[in-house]
This record gives sequence, C-alpha cells and structure tokens, in this order.
Amino acid sequence: MSKRKILVTSALPYANGSIHLGHLVEYIQTDIWVRFQRMQGHEVHYVGADDTHGTPVMLRAQSEGITPEALIERVWKEHRRDFDDFLVSFDNYHSTHSDETRVIAEEIYRRLDQGKLITQRSVEQFYDPIKQMFLPDRFIKGECPKCGAKDQYGDSCEVCGATYSPTDLKNPYSTVSGAAPVRKASEHYFFKLGDCSEFLQQWTRSGTLQLEAANKMAEWFSAGLNDWDISRDAPYFGFEIPGAPGKYFYVWLDAPIGYFGSLRNYCDKQQAAGKTLDFDAFTNADKAATEKTEMVHFIGKDILYFHALFWPAMLKNAGFRTPTNIYAHGFLTVNGEKMSKSRGTFITAESYIQQGLNPEWLRYYYAAKLNSTMEDIDLNLEDFVARVNSDLVGKYINIASRCAPFISKYFDGKILSTPDLWVSESKEIDHSSKNPVFPFVYTRLGDVNVLYENREYSKVIRDVMAFVACINAYIDVLKPWELAKTGEMKLLHQVCSVSINMFRMVAIYLKPVLPEMVANVENFLNINPLTSASAQTLLPDGHIINPYKHLATRIDPKQITALVEANKESLKPTAPQPHSQQRHAQHQENIVETTTQPATINIDDFSKIDLRVARIVNAEQVEGADKLLKLTLDIGTEQRTVFAGIKSAYDPEKLKGRLTVMVANLAPRKMKFGLSEGMVLAAGDGSGLYLLGPDEGAQPGMRIK
Ligand code: 2FM
Ligand code: ZN
Repeated sequence: MSKRKILVTSALPYANGSIHLGHLVEYIQTDIWVRFQRMQGHEVHYVGADDTHGTPVMLRAQSEGITPEALIERVWKEHRRDFDDFLVSFDNYHSTHSDETRVIAEEIYRRLDQGKLITQRSVEQFYDPIKQMFLPDRFIKGECPKCGAKDQYGDSCEVCGATYSPTDLKNPYSTVSGAAPVRKASEHYFFKLGDCSEFLQQWTRSGTLQLEAANKMAEWFSAGLNDWDISRDAPYFGFEIPGAPGKYFYVWLDAPIGYFGSLRNYCDKQQAAGKTLDFDAFTNADKAATEKTEMVHFIGKDILYFHALFWPAMLKNAGFRTPTNIYAHGFLTVNGEKMSKSRGTFITAESYIQQGLNPEWLRYYYAAKLNSTMEDIDLNLEDFVARVNSDLVGKYINIASRCAPFISKYFDGKILSTPDLWVSESKEIDHSSKNPVFPFVYTRLGDVNVLYENREYSKVIRDVMAFVACINAYIDVLKPWELAKTGEMKLLHQVCSVSINMFRMVAIYLKPVLPEMVANVENFLNINPLTSASAQTLLPDGHIINPYKHLATRIDPKQITALVEANKESLKPTAPQPHSQQRHAQHQENIVETTTQPATINIDDFSKIDLRVARIVNAEQVEGADKLLKLTLDIGTEQRTVFAGIKSAYDPEKLKGRLTVMVANLAPRKMKFGLSEGMVLAAGDGSGLYLLGPDEGAQPGMRIK
C-alpha cells in the first residue's frame, strides 16, 4: 500500500461561542478518521483554526468592553483546551485573524479580480442609524408578515415557519440598539459564481461529495447560481479588501482560507524546527496533482453551500487545488430533540469535563452512532450510560479483568502462544469439550479498515462488539476460574493467553476511537504502540504482561443528571447570543428550541424519522400486560424488540411473517416488560386498530420516504 499524503480539516468554530457537544460530533468524527489514517502509516496533517471575523465577534467584544483581538485570543485558548480535553489531535491550531490567512486571502482575491470574476454594484440594506452600521439579517427582528408573531428574525418565522426577506418584517428593529432600521445603499463587491457554473456542475459530480450532497447541489444549480456578495462595510472585524478602503472581506470569504492559513503556519513552524513540509504540495493545483496529495474537509451539512460551491470555485480560479473530498455530517439531537437550553441539553464541552465525565465515553458513543451519511445523530443520555457501562466496560474491559489476574498469579505474567491455538474452521463456540482453540475466525474483522476509511464507525463498533461477545462466550464456556480450582493449569494458561491476545486485537480496532484507553491497554500489555499492522501478529510466546489494573470506570447516572442540571443553570441568565450572519451559516449552535409546535414541518423534519419496512418474525403475549404484544421485527440488518399496544386487535399467531412499518430511530424506551426498540405504525380512531403494511414486493429494511 502506498503512503497517502492527506491534509485534513474540520470546520473552523466561530470565535464568539463555546464548543458544545454538537460541535464535538464533527471534531470526534474527524479525529477518529485522522487517527485511523495515522495507524495505517499514512502522512496526515490535521489542521484547524478559530473562525474569528464578522459582526457577531465585533459586537460581542464591544459588549464585553474589550477589543475583538482580546476576545478571540481568550476564546482561542478555551477552544484549544476543549479540543485537548476531547483528544482531538490537531497537528496545528491557528486563527483566521492571522497574517498567513490575510496574505492568501489577498492573493486569491487578486487572482479572481485578474480573472474578471469580481464585480461591483450598489446594494441597499438595513442600517442602524444609532450604531451607524449595516445590519446582517440576524440582527433585525420584527413581526412575522404572515402570522404576526413578535420578535422574529429577518429571514424566517420560528412560529409559523414562513420564510421571507428582512424588508418584509413588520415594525422591524435593530437587536443591537433597538432603533428602527433605515434603508441605505452602499457599494459591494461580488464574486461571479454564476461564471463558474459549468466547472462546479462537473466538479460536484466527480465523486468529491456524498451522493445526497451532490443531489442537493443539483437543486441549487437548477435554481441558478447568483453572484456572491463578498464585501462588508466598516465597522467590521475582518480584513480590509486591497484597493477598497472601508470595505472588508465577508467572514465566509476568509474562513475556508483559514485552512490554508493554518497549514502555512504549520509549515513555517516545521521549518523552524528543522523539518520540511511543503505548503505548495498540498495547495498548488499543479503540485498537488504531481505529488498526489489529498485535501479532505469534514463539515456539517449546513455549510455545504460554502464548501462545495464558493470554496472550490475560488480555488479553481485562483490556481489552487480543489478539495479531494468533502464529508458532511448531520446535526446532533439530544434525547431525540433539538439541543435545548431550558432542558439543559445544550451541553458545553467544558461542563461535560467539569462533571468528571470521561471524554472517551462520548467518543465511544458518537462512534457507535456515526455513519457516512448526512443523517442527524441522537445522543440519548440513557442509552449513552447503558452502552458505555455494559458494552465498553462490562464486556470489553471485562475480558482483561477476567483473564489477566490468572496470568499474573500462576504464570509470572507470561503469555503462552502456540500456533495451534488460533486456527479454527468453526465459528461456533465448542460447548462439548474443553477446547482452547479460539473458535472465531477473526478475519471477519478484516473489513473494519474499510469501514473506518468510509466513516462507517457505527458498523465498526457493531462488528467489534460482536467480536467482543464471542471472546466472552469463549471465556464463559471454558471457565478459567474453574480450571484454576481444578488445577488444570495448562488449559488455564492457554485459555487466558488466547483471551488476552484477542483483547489486544480488539484494542487495535478501538484505538482510533479510544486513544487514551488503548494507551493504557498498551501499557498493561507491555507492548509498543499498536498500529493497523499489529493485527497481523500475536503476542509472542513468553511475552510478559503487567499486572492488571483497572482500565476503565463506569458512568454513574447521577453524573448525567448533574450535567443536565449544570447546563440548565449556567445558561439561564446569559445575554441573548447573536445568531450567525446568514441562514446558510447556521451551525449546531443555532439549533435552538422553539416552544411552539409549528403548524407544518419541512421535509428535513420529516426525513429525521427513519421509517423502515419490518417483518414480524415473532409475536407473543406479554404476561401481565393488558394492551401489549411483544414483537420481534426484522429490519434487514438486525432484529428489534418492540412492545406494541395492539393486543386488542390482533392475534399474535396471525401477525407472524407479515410485513409492517416501523420507526427505526425512536430512542429505545425502558418499559416494565423490557426494552422497546422502536414503534410500529397503526391507524386508529378509537373504533379499531389497523397495522400498516407495505405493498407486495417490499423487503425488510427498506426505507420509507
Ligand atoms: O459554521 C461555522 O461554524 C463556521 N465558523 C465554519 C467555518 S468552516 C471554514 F470555512 F472555515
Ligand atoms: Zn409567522
């Protein structure tokens, strides 16, 4: 396998807010991928920076009575601390408010201008006559033109869902000063995105984007690409446009350039340390092609527009390389709902750490949920506790705690490793005899590397945990504690050695997700850092491991209660946070709760519900339940147990084998009779109950859209 050279980025967080669990989905997703690539032996440079410019930063600094520079420096330190805490392994973390970013932004602008891709025209906008500044949409509120709801933003109504332009608002006011805004014209600079349409259409179909993202692009293309307004008037915290006094680059112009700014800064630091890292090899179009370097951006689906249209169009026309891949992920929900300050589910990274929660628990849980799509992922706090405690600690770590003490006590810590212990045709545990050969052909995990590469982390965890279950079953059958009692020492030594070797194998696969825990495992096993290649070998015969010390603790559910409480309190009295400048720019922090149920939902709301065709493979009565039947549902990839309130209408025997529809992503619910892992759909108005079923030909697992 040839060594890849990959520049990897995560979206740059705004310098006016704290890192929260929504942001961490992306940083953890990226970091797992980065660590996996490093374990494969590839050359990876993971760079980040704070996204510092724009009106919100300027106003926030003003309200705190400090300079924007002082604000962004403070926030930079907080962000760095949070990333370190969550083991996000940036090679370099910089700021867009830097000479490196400015120089590249000016260069790109100059080349676009030379290429006749910059144009100017007058734009009329709302202006705050007291503050003497133009107002981005998010700083104007008023009454919804449709339903009359008060205090609505200038682009859409959070009560009725109507979208409109700020000029449609009734009785508008500036959220900065409270003044009624006036309309005022000024000269703006535009990037002629429409002229790049042909290139972009071809580029977005070149395999760079996920299919669902490419489809989204197609919608934008068919709506037509408008020129992009890249300038803002003073007062603005940003870079002044060369040759245009009083005009500044709009924050989204220099934000992605911050990726290159951070890389430039990193290359310079490397050079100062006597190492070489060639900036051009990763950024120049020709050089990147010759050197076959890659540039991979991880982003949230809300900023696709910027990364898949403006950014490649700017790069292409300025002689820079374009991204190799853009990987967009969905938003985070907590307990199935938008993160909410009043429910205490808008949880900051800092508060998580302050509660004494282990960051690797969250990394593990996110990994167990993440896949390669743009679907939202849910942090169900109960499920979080259950999975970490029962799978990670109760099943994985348990292997070492069950076997290692025997190795230390009876065999001086020595591992016995003979080739005949590893090869077995069978995938079954041999219940009949005391056969120490590990029965599971672990080549089944050969796909884990492909799954990591494709960001299918939930499948990694699923497969690894199936392997873990197999190791535990092996221990259960051979019962080392009984062998110790009956004095079957050779067998005891074999069984524990096999189990510890398998434990090491699992550590290789979990290392990108749990780097610190695996470092402790390496220490316990007395081995060099594991890499992907380590999966080709076993511990050598006679290898001495260290005495077992506990490797992980369980979550105390009280910590979760305290976490939610802490986030309720800390967020109550704070001043209203300015929203981001533009609807497109919204990120996880802007998923704020709406207290009113909207009259309609949009297609994104609907597509959050994962409806699947399910086959009822079993249906039975539930002892002591008046209304429930216990259903076992096959959804293609797995089987689920669902308790359904349909007893009054159905004989369980008649349900077996038929197809129905289930909500597959409903948070599991603990009921008196067991865990219910979803819901089946039935129609009813009190007079009867009718289970839904698909037309003939539908197969279990098919998604209903
Ligand atoms: O949406 C956001 O949070 C932006 N600060 C992301 C910027 S990503 C890159 F372009 F800088
Ligand atoms: Zn409205």
